[in-house]
Amino acid sequence: MSGSKLDVVLKDLSIGYNGIPVVSDINVTLPAGKISVILGGSGCGKSTLLKHMLKLHPVLAGEIRIGGKNILELNRHAWACLKLRLGLLFQDGALLGSLPLGDNVALPLKEHTRLDKKTIQDMAVAKLALVGLANYTHLYPNQLSGGMRKRAGLARAMVMDPDILFCDEPTSGLDPINSVELDHLLLELKDRFNITIVVVSHDLASMRAIADHVVMLGDGRVLFDGSMQDLEKTTDPYLRRFLDRIAEERTSPRLKALPLDPSMLKLNCAKYMASYGERE
Ligand SMILES: Nc1ncnc2c1ncn2[C@@H]1O[C@H](COP(=O)(O)OP(=O)(O)O)[C@@H](O)[C@H]1O
Ligand SMILES: [Mg+2]
Repeated sequence: MSGSKLDVVLKDLSIGYNGIPVVSDINVTLPAGKISVILGGSGCGKSTLLKHMLKLHPVLAGEIRIGGKNILELNRHAWACLKLRLGLLFQDGALLGSLPLGDNVALPLKEHTRLDKKTIQDMAVAKLALVGLANYTHLYPNQLSGGMRKRAGLARAMVMDPDILFCDEPTSGLDPINSVELDHLLLELKDRFNITIVVVSHDLASMRAIADHVVMLGDGRVLFDGSMQDLEKTTDPYLRRFLDRIAEERTSPRLKALPLDPSMLKLNCAKYMASYGERE
């Protein structure tokens, strides 16, 4: 079991692609041993932030500190070591279709440890048991439901006993029952393994169920950074609208349909009928 907790500190961070920022001036701390939810509408840069925290893209400016270390300054070896302490649950579970569940979950152990085959197998089954899939080790990903795939992805993300677990939209595509189950799993992992969890999500119900800390993105910046309790008390109109799920359409004018001359439709129809008749 892992013990040391790691926090994530983002300092004057700007992220984006090809020099064009998606989110700028991020100054937040994702506390150790807690669940932080990075919330925001679709396309606001949640996955982008997650990918930058894992050094999958170069940052435009600023620092990313994990457990006090600026990961952007680490050499390859130091980063490779730190990365082993980070687990990642991809949006779609990202399991390999050609491998049964047991092998999928065992993969990181095979790649990064020198444990013998039997131990690796036992550890993979133990992590699958954690997510309620101990009896499914022989099944292939396409033989599983969406909820089971997500849980299997979670087992794989946990197999190296990470200190931080990053999850991209863990409840997206799941029905409410499976979503609640996944939320419970994340809460259980936090308590049982004492880990830091960073969840990217647009799922309000899930956020309310699991978040200790919330960072809300929108408009290319951080709109809120604080505790779940403080977010619920906010009077900021945009945040309230998001929290209270007031549909945009009720607060903004409806799009007007393009003006259309009704005779145009008739005309085209008549023309078509005429040429059809000619051919007969
Ligand atoms: N690899 C990429 N190259 C260029 N632009 C990207 C790339 N990935 C995402 N984007 C753009 O960055 C913005 C944020 O995307 P993303 O982080 O995926 O949003 P979210 O996860 O919040 O829905 C979007 O406008 C998207 O088109
Ligand atoms: Mg995303």
